Amino acid sequence: MADEGAEMIEETEHMIEKNGEKEPENVLPAGDAKEMRAVILSGFGGLNKLRVTKKAMPEPQEGEVKIRVKACGLNFLDLMVRQGNIDNPPKTPLVPGFECSGIVEAMGEGTKGFEIGDRVMAFVNYNAWAEVVCTPLDYVYKMPDDMTFPEAAAFSINFVAAYMMLFEVANLREGMSVLVHSAGGGVGQAVAQLCSTIPSVTVFGTASSFKHEAIKNSVTHLFDRNVDYVQEVKKISPEGVDIVLDCLCGENTGKGLGLLRPLGTYILYGSSSMVTGETKSFFSFAKSWWQVEKVNPIKLFEENKVIAGFSLLNLLFKQGRCGHVKTVVEKLFSLYNQKKIKPVVDSLWALEEVKEAMQRIHDRVNIGKLILDVEKSPTPLVNPEPGHEPDQTSLESPEKWLCSEVRHPT
Ligand SMILES: NC(=O)c1ccc[n+]([C@@H]2O[C@H](COP(=O)([O-])OP(=O)(O)OC[C@H]3O[C@@H](n4cnc5c(N)ncnc54)[C@H](OP(=O)(O)O)[C@@H]3O)[C@@H](O)[C@H]2O)c1
Repeated sequence: MADEGAEMIEETEHMIEKNGEKEPENVLPAGDAKEMRAVILSGFGGLNKLRVTKKAMPEPQEGEVKIRVKACGLNFLDLMVRQGNIDNPPKTPLVPGFECSGIVEAMGEGTKGFEIGDRVMAFVNYNAWAEVVCTPLDYVYKMPDDMTFPEAAAFSINFVAAYMMLFEVANLREGMSVLVHSAGGGVGQAVAQLCSTIPSVTVFGTASSFKHEAIKNSVTHLFDRNVDYVQEVKKISPEGVDIVLDCLCGENTGKGLGLLRPLGTYILYGSSSMVTGETKSFFSFAKSWWQVEKVNPIKLFEENKVIAGFSLLNLLFKQGRCGHVKTVVEKLFSLYNQKKIKPVVDSLWALEEVKEAMQRIHDRVNIGKLILDVEKSPTPLVNPEPGHEPDQTSLESPEKWLCSEVRHPT
């Protein structure tokens, strides 16, 4: 990665924490092209650890692409990173974010295949939530012509993870059944759309009740997240399901394995249940892993069941599988160009609104993906429908507009 080592140096007025910690003061003149805005996580914990600062402009190293960022994806994982609720957390301060879209501004030595001005989306191993990002060319993809920057930022992690779990780990085929939790979320909606590309796939989903009206057409059977979904699934399909996608972890691991038909696959790919309050709960952490530890391989053998794990970021950044991921991205772009899939954007937020955006995902309100729009000023978007007057509730209106615009693929 490029050395983005210069310290954060100037907080934007919007984010100044009157009583919070101050970052080192090493102020560059405003408007200097050698600096950029970025979101900084100053330490693990609550929302007050996030702020926007000025940082030194990164320059691309050999094999890297420098991207003028337009939009960044905000994932549930970013919330877990903020809390320090992940394995081997990196050192703080850091710039969060693992994906972005934008325009190629420069290339490092030996960087082939891109030109200045290319519209691209990229994976980044942290540092995505900034005006400018440098990342190795293996993690950068030219966007389809019709794809918008917010769509591209909503695309990479959600659709690549959903695709690889369904088609490469679990081998989804015609007539199969899938259970997915958080069905209204970024990954959940990607899973639902990808399932709809295969004939006769039954999708069981769980989600907060208020989302049901909005997402009811994307899955076959929808249950409130608080009901006993094992019983509800068994009422409809007594033999269970072929694929369980579990991003909740904890006791859901046992339930998911119990729901599998013979030769079915359970995939653990997240641990959302560990998030309870604003900061990390060691109790939830311990409880979740204690439940998962109870899986008995001999039982799997007797019952003909498969248990798997999936982590896209580890695959990319620790296990060197970016070549493999590139082939998946190409397949997904083809589905996008055929209008079979389309990322669902929940809402757009300025960098300076990162706290509000993160609180939204924590409060389970999002339907689809939250996007940080780097060029957006920290004011509510205005609903384009005639007669709509911006008011105190106008933050909600554009979200509805965005969802109705992009939720259902044609
Ligand atoms: N392994 C991988 O490669 C990979 C890649 C991407 C994401 N993930 C995982 O997939 C899951 C979904 O990620 P996402 O980014 O698409 O998020 P998301 O589903 O868009 O948003 C989070 C949603 O999760 C549900 N939820 C469940 N437990 C929650 C909790 N304790 N606090 C708040 N919300 C909770 C809520 O929906 P309801 O209230 O409707 O249930 C909430 O709206 C996360 O666990 C994430 O870590 C894994």
